[in-house]
Amino acid sequence: MALLEVKDLNLWYGEKHTLRDINFSLQEREILCIVGESGSGKSSILYSILQLLPKNAKVSGEIIFEGKNLINLSEKEMRSIRSSKIGIVFQEPSAYLDPLFTVGSQLSETAIAHLSLRNVKDYVVDKMKKAGIPSAEKRYYAYPHHLSGGLKQRVCIANAIMCNPKIVLADEPTTALDVSVQKRILSLLRRMKEDGTSVILVTHDFGVVAECGDRVIVLKDGEILEEGDVFKIFDSPRHSYTKMLIKSAVDMV
Ligand SMILES: Nc1ncnc2c1ncn2[C@@H]1O[C@H](COP(=O)(O)OP(=O)(O)OP(=O)(O)O)[C@@H](O)[C@H]1O
Ligand SMILES: [Mg+2]
Repeated sequence: MALLEVKDLNLWYGEKHTLRDINFSLQEREILCIVGESGSGKSSILYSILQLLPKNAKVSGEIIFEGKNLINLSEKEMRSIRSSKIGIVFQEPSAYLDPLFTVGSQLSETAIAHLSLRNVKDYVVDKMKKAGIPSAEKRYYAYPHHLSGGLKQRVCIANAIMCNPKIVLADEPTTALDVSVQKRILSLLRRMKEDGTSVILVTHDFGVVAECGDRVIVLKDGEILEEGDVFKIFDSPRHSYTKMLIKSAVDMV
């Protein structure tokens, strides 16, 4: 049975029909990539799943998780699902982290909100280590501006996995990072999968898909153009748009 099922999802921002008839499912222990160019609606799919949409947004369809349609849940019910069951790594880690608070205090807030822990700091430091942060004890006391982009991104990953969620939504987690840091973050996502967490990974880069995806959805102008096993799509893409995305990833190497 699928862990998450999206059925006939449509989204409007005001009058603008942004997502059209989106259907896909996420299985246990898989990395599902959503690929498409800027503005195709990738982030909007993730925000629809967690109901983090702006006021002018209207959604229809079903997003089934643990037998419930997330679209119908109240804000209070959604709050208990966010972080504790479905974590998210936002596209802009700097925008997400508060510059006035230490990394440790921000991460502890997530842990305290959802878990009853005897030793919060040890727990948080352990998650920071799992997210690949070196010298985690020291960095627990650091402010976000003390950290590089790659480390900030890993802090956001630590936050997303804080409550051992079943699913992590990762929105372009490697964009704007240099190649070696990118590789480290992608290997973290693969490890997450081995540990039993499923991942929806949003990217515009087929290189990222090749590195860690199991299945891929190709999105264009808010519609799914094709979907399938990563090997199959690389081998025989059906649409010229998919071919173009694959070609631009290959040309970058
Ligand atoms: N709050 C909003 N109000 C109105 N339009 C929006 C809003 N947020 C996004 N959009 C529009 O919806 C479309 C999809 O945006 P979205 O951010 O989901 O795309 P994306 O694929 O994540 O793009 P990127 O790769 O640049 O992050 C775009 O045309 C965008 O301008
Ligand atoms: Mg986006």
